[in-house]
Amino acid sequence: MEKKNIDWGNLGFSYQKTDQRYVSNYRDGAWDEGVLTEDDQVTINECAGVLQYAQTIFEGMKAYTTEDGRIVIFRPDLNASRMADSARRLEMPVFPEERFVEAVEEVVRANAAWVPPFGSGATLYLRPYMFGANAVIGVKPADEYQFRVFATPVGPYFKGGVKPLTIRVSDFDRAAPHGTGHIKAGLNYAMSLHAIVSAHAEGYDENMYLDAATRTKVEETGGANFLFVAKDGTVVTPKSNSILPSITRRSLMYVAKEYLGLPCEEREVTLAEVSDFAECGLCGTAAVISPVGKIVDHGKEICMPAGMEQMGPVTQKLYDTLTGIQMGRIEAPEGWLHEVK
Ligand code: PLP
Ligand code: COI
Repeated sequence: MEKKNIDWGNLGFSYQKTDQRYVSNYRDGAWDEGVLTEDDQVTINECAGVLQYAQTIFEGMKAYTTEDGRIVIFRPDLNASRMADSARRLEMPVFPEERFVEAVEEVVRANAAWVPPFGSGATLYLRPYMFGANAVIGVKPADEYQFRVFATPVGPYFKGGVKPLTIRVSDFDRAAPHGTGHIKAGLNYAMSLHAIVSAHAEGYDENMYLDAATRTKVEETGGANFLFVAKDGTVVTPKSNSILPSITRRSLMYVAKEYLGLPCEEREVTLAEVSDFAECGLCGTAAVISPVGKIVDHGKEICMPAGMEQMGPVTQKLYDTLTGIQMGRIEAPEGWLHEVK
């Protein structure tokens, strides 16, 4: 199979139409068998649940080429189960988890020419999503849904690749206690748009959101969880019921403990203690691990010791080990690499 003629090394994180996407419809209480289609347009009623009341959820995952030439997807079973959790929270029907993995595989297979070659630094980003498709005018869940998966080749999420980022402590909240911060609902991102646009306008790469109840504890950013490294080498990640349970973060904590033998803690992290940490990174599918060099809290700068040119040594080790596992250079734990044949 011939690869597309793309300048893989210079891709940003943006959408590009690929050849095939997957669509399945839920009607009369059941999902249909699903098809691949070339049609990238969605036609729905003007009063669809997604358009009126934002009844939509999504996932983000990546397929890529390993060093030995296999095409793999990283831990898709975890995305399938998180999407099921998201669906239940928004009163949507669950797209069966095994079918989710099959659908994603089908999309990768059908777009194999778009899977970036090994070593290019690019990946094929996969976006499963589901939305309420029929008309609802009273506030209630839709009866009909569409589940879709598209693929698009991407480069790094943050411009500059792995250069340390500058973030600010946000005055806006992302998620309420007992709200929807722990699921991947489109509404969480809609309400972050004003915060991210104003952060960018002020020269920051991202927002650090605090817990909405007390505004003293670190939650996450708009699209990634935090990892901190304490001065004694302990890897610390915030524990909260209102952040997304990042698959990358869970994988990194496992890598820190089992591969690197580092002490690990998942616990509440206060904003007040952030200046005591030696390293800070953002982790997520799109972000992989992006180092944070500076956190600005209303004019007060917290500068990470590794500076603004490179990531700290523990972050670097975590990055090298995780990407080594993903690319097949380091043996992966059972079930982490899902090969698409
Ligand atoms: N937090 C938020 C708000 C996100 O949107 C994402 C991206 O998916 C993450 C964290 C990272 O999660 P994952 O590692 O599963 O991609
Ligand atoms: C991801 O990392 O897959 C995300 O969904 C983060 C962002 C692009 C919303």
